Amino acid sequence: MKNAVVSDVVAGILELKERLGATILAHYYQEGEIQEIADITGDSLKLARAATQVQSPVIVFCGVHFMAETAKMLNPTKKVLLPDLKAGCSLSDSCPADKLARYQEMLRINGRRFQTVTYINSSAAVKALSDWVVTSGNAEEIVRQVPEDQEILFVPDRHLGSYLEEVTGRKMILWNGSCMVHEVFSIRDLLDAKKRLPQAKTLAHPECPANIREHSDFIGGTEAMLRYVGQWAEPTDFLVATEANMLWQLQTKHPRHRYHPVPGITCACNKCPHMARNTLEKIRDCLRYGEPEITWQPEFDAARRVLERSLLPSSR
Ligand code: 13P
Ligand code: SF4
Repeated sequence: MKNAVVSDVVAGILELKERLGATILAHYYQEGEIQEIADITGDSLKLARAATQVQSPVIVFCGVHFMAETAKMLNPTKKVLLPDLKAGCSLSDSCPADKLARYQEMLRINGRRFQTVTYINSSAAVKALSDWVVTSGNAEEIVRQVPEDQEILFVPDRHLGSYLEEVTGRKMILWNGSCMVHEVFSIRDLLDAKKRLPQAKTLAHPECPANIREHSDFIGGTEAMLRYVGQWAEPTDFLVATEANMLWQLQTKHPRHRYHPVPGITCACNKCPHMARNTLEKIRDCLRYGEPEITWQPEFDAARRVLERSLLPSSR
């Protein structure tokens, strides 16, 4: 988009936002121009908690469907708008609720005692079937508190699951899902980049496969990455193995460093096509027309209880 058109669209968003009383929440994987107009940016955990504090009548969630759904469940009286209702997630798609329910039933018939720990990247119907919902920010803490006499069924991300097995020493039953963005980082390109920049530190999201994680200096979710680079006083090179828009946030908060995206095997940019469905024009239009809206669904009641006990420690 040309600069003058961008400024017009941004001016329209700001005017509508003021008039309607809307708060814009944006995930770090949104384009920089979207993060720039947001009231709050964050990882999944920060945004879910922030949603509970919103006082304005409208929340515009710039992220994907499960995130907007989570915001609605945690603050049900607000009108929650998602600029593009088709903004999904490959992890969420990999675990349909009916398939999970059948698998849980099979485990129970076989006499297995287990708790289901579910990554937040999942539908409300899947959350409703779970004992715990975790994000990259609190997964380790929750896994550690599941009683030892119970097995853990971890869904849907097998890579985050195997990372949690490594750090907690707890063996889990892993669902076979993965993130289409983190799954495709190229180990060959990462090793080449490390040769070119031997002094660089490598950051990897725990949704990355083990071959990427084992060549990394730091493994953590997006909020943890921000904290980690913030600790380096000296200008440093970082190779970043997560969705490429994260570089905008890193650059903005900690501009003294240099950031280099780790390329993927299928595409050099590693942008999430689901996150990319949201645009400035769609944000303006959802404010203008009051839709697409996340409306209350029957499964939200049960999912909400799991979300609250998992993400809001004060409600445990
Ligand atoms: P976090 O930002 O919570 O680490 O999540 C990453 C992600 O893949 C969101 O879809
Ligand atoms: Fe889902 Fe991966 Fe996109 Fe996050 S980056 S929304 S996990 S597909």
